Amino acid sequence: MPHRERYLFVCTNRREPANPKGSCAQKGSEELLKKLKGALLARGVQGRFRACGTTCLDLCEEGISIADEPTHVTYAKVTEADIEELADAMVANTVVERLVHHRPAHDPSAPALLGKA
Ligand code: FES
Repeated sequence: MPHRERYLFVCTNRREPANPKGSCAQKGSEELLKKLKGALLARGVQGRFRACGTTCLDLCEEGISIADEPTHVTYAKVTEADIEELADAMVANTVVERLVHHRPAHDPSAPALLGKA
């Protein structure tokens, strides 16, 4: 399988319930990831874009967290209600601005991809 144009890495880290940091899995990220994969499949773009699980993105208190590569944008507080918009943004080569927690200041690939050129 060739390298995809863009990836959404969804944090599926799970901690013990008593851990005060909490975790994205406890907030439903595993199910969100399944539905996000389904949304990309429904658009027929699974060969260009991929959603996959990853471990902690160090935004536990802001989770569910997603790292968008190669834009280097990080999304936070993502819910299942955001899935269709995230999938549409992949297809449109944009980002979902209202979910952006962090974006790089000096990434040369970011301006064109994010429509900020
Ligand atoms: S547990 Fe998801 S960002 Fe840390």
